[in-house]
Amino acid sequence: MSYQTILVEQRGAVTLVTLNRPQALNALNSQVLSELLEAMAAFDKDPTQGCAVITGSEKAFAAGADIKEMQAQGFADMYGHDFFAGWDAFTRTRKPVIAAVAGYALGGGCELAMMCDFILAADSAKFGQPEIKLAVSPGMGGSQRLARAVGKAKAMEMCLTGRMIDAAEAERAGLVARIVPAAELVEDAVETAATIAGMAPLAVLASKEMVNAAFETNLAQGVQFERRLFHALFGTADQKEGMAAFVEKRPGAWSGK
Ligand code: HXC
Repeated sequence: MSYQTILVEQRGAVTLVTLNRPQALNALNSQVLSELLEAMAAFDKDPTQGCAVITGSEKAFAAGADIKEMQAQGFADMYGHDFFAGWDAFTRTRKPVIAAVAGYALGGGCELAMMCDFILAADSAKFGQPEIKLAVSPGMGGSQRLARAVGKAKAMEMCLTGRMIDAAEAERAGLVARIVPAAELVEDAVETAATIAGMAPLAVLASKEMVNAAFETNLAQGVQFERRLFHALFGTADQKEGMAAFVEKRPGAWSGK
């Protein structure tokens, strides 16, 4: 498949997607969205692929939704077409997706990173929701995901002032899983993704689903959801294999069943 705004490469069981609109600092326009959705759907369906990494350039993961595309739109265009609703499909990707962020992750760029399952940040990363400076607001889930990730105080400050935070502040706040030297970011992310892709596939899907349930349920419902999925994993061949492999002191060989 050939795309114009993204590059897609398979490295073993890892799909590496690189946002590729350098002239616009990877601003997310409708073409990026449709190409990304197609690439993610193909990744999700491909039994040889276990985890994806989304990255940008050294300068920018993505500097936001495309301001030039939105500039002339009115309420009827935005509401009538439910602008940005297409991004919901991205969050329905069942296999794990890691955001590897170097440089700017602003507005929709920060929101895309937060739609991924976790963020690895280069020491050069900068996160922000600067839409307020354009007299608008986050529109791809940023106000909700940022508040859940960093808490009300920092989310509110960032959305109301547009202040960017650097990688160290983002890590302290819980927005990113880990900081990596910029030169090692993509390799580290691919290696992390390969580790995930090397786990039993059904346990990976279940683990992603249960952590995500923490954001959609109350505690008792979430714990019950976790327990039921945990029970279900005992119906898989890979559970038998995983526990036998541990007892026999050898690596597990997964069937995905
Ligand atoms: C369209 C963008 C863009 C964007 C940068 N560019 N960000 N184009 N949409 N979000 C373009 C610039 O117009 C410029 O094109 C080229 O990329 C390089 O950008 P510069 O500004 O010249 O680079 P620099 O001086 O290094 O500044 C980097 C920057 C700045 C600080 C990241 O570009 C910036 O502030 N960008 C906008 C960030 C932002 O507001 N993001 C939120 C967008 S709204 P030309 O053709 O001039 O060379 C959003 C909405 C979500 O995400 C929901 C709300 C509706």
